[in-house]
Amino acid sequence: MKEFKAIRGIRDILYPRSQKWGNIVAKAAGLLKNYGYRRTFIPVIEYTDLFSRSIGEDTDIVSKEMYSFEDRKGRQLSLRPEGTASVVRAAIENRMLQGKVREKFFYFGPMFRYERPQQGRYRQFYQLGCEVLGSEDPFIDAEILDMAVQLMKNLKIKDYKVKINSVGCEKCRTEYRKKIRAELKPDRDKLCPDCKKRLDSNTLRIFDCKNKKCRALYKKLPAVSEYLCNECRDYYREFKEILTALELNYSIDKTLVRGLDYYTGPVFEILSKGSAVLAGGRYDNLTKQLGGPDQPACGWALGLERISAISDIDSSALPEVYLLLIGDRGMSKGRSIARKLRQRGISVEEDYSKLSVGKKFNIANRKDIRWVVILGEDELTNNTVSLKDMKTGEQESMKISNIEKIVRKIKC
Ligand code: HAM
Repeated sequence: MKEFKAIRGIRDILYPRSQKWGNIVAKAAGLLKNYGYRRTFIPVIEYTDLFSRSIGEDTDIVSKEMYSFEDRKGRQLSLRPEGTASVVRAAIENRMLQGKVREKFFYFGPMFRYERPQQGRYRQFYQLGCEVLGSEDPFIDAEILDMAVQLMKNLKIKDYKVKINSVGCEKCRTEYRKKIRAELKPDRDKLCPDCKKRLDSNTLRIFDCKNKKCRALYKKLPAVSEYLCNECRDYYREFKEILTALELNYSIDKTLVRGLDYYTGPVFEILSKGSAVLAGGRYDNLTKQLGGPDQPACGWALGLERISAISDIDSSALPEVYLLLIGDRGMSKGRSIARKLRQRGISVEEDYSKLSVGKKFNIANRKDIRWVVILGEDELTNNTVSLKDMKTGEQESMKISNIEKIVRKIKC
């Protein structure tokens, strides 16, 4: 019989990794809630042109990496490669962007990109992201980055660097484009076919090229941040000043252009061991581009796989109690004790099987459960349980009627 395997680049997230992820998401959700972000569930499938119009036709994500297909009615659909476009689409569709607004969203879920799988890079991966729609203030850009850094601390991540840049607005880029085309004119024939096309259609995207020859030629080019218009330059300066006032350590990376077209101002990445674990920036044209009211916006998203790999937070949420029944009697008493413990916030794994006592203790050991509540003949007769601490080996007899005392002991 054929053995089924998960698709290349797509993994099962099993315990204890799943538990660590749950803990990370809970910590992030708690922090974002404190800043006024509201959880949002966005669809996994959207019309393909939502992504081509926002992320950009010429980006690697749209041109090479999307999982796209036609549905039974011939509609072109794609699995989402990211969450920003969907959040903006949802906000427009649900008329949330009329007038003066500041809407804050956060989301968590799987994204899909047909990339070459490797350590930390998957075809189905999970992002947790936040977006602020209706905000044009460098303080907000700085605040979302500060929030991201706080999250790194809350997740016990030590080894990371913050890099920032500004990719400017359409006005800055018009000048920049002219400059780049002029600079590369003599070398045009040396460029790869993709870059030749991108040079004419979407100049900034040449910097995504992985071809060594192209990259060598781009080293001599000026950076987009040297071509900022007055407004973008002031905005970027203020953004940096606020980061400094917040004592947030960052470095400037003039080559940081991000792989998505919608960015219009400050952008940033948090990197660890050379790969981006969190990234985002300002995207002021996207709401209008997607047919909604003109609302400035910014946000970021982190990759769960990469964050989890560098976070030292606890990954356990093991059952605290293993309820071990000896003999056939006591099933209903056992259930009642388990229920009382659970009602008091204690996680209980019950074992009413006919396995030997030794085997049952082995299971508790293997599952790394600290407390074993034993209910045997003697205990049933005396209306007690024996509470065994698997860490110290100590065992104590306790009255079932004094459930609060048992709870205190387990929780201490
Ligand atoms: P992005 O840089 O494409 O930005 O992705 C954000 C993060 O998702 C990356 O920093 C990385 O940690 C993770 N990631 C991306 N691709 C993969 C992959 N194939 N495998 C594992 N992890 C991956 C965005 O998606 C933007 N929507 C971020 C944003 C939100 N900008 C404004 N708001």
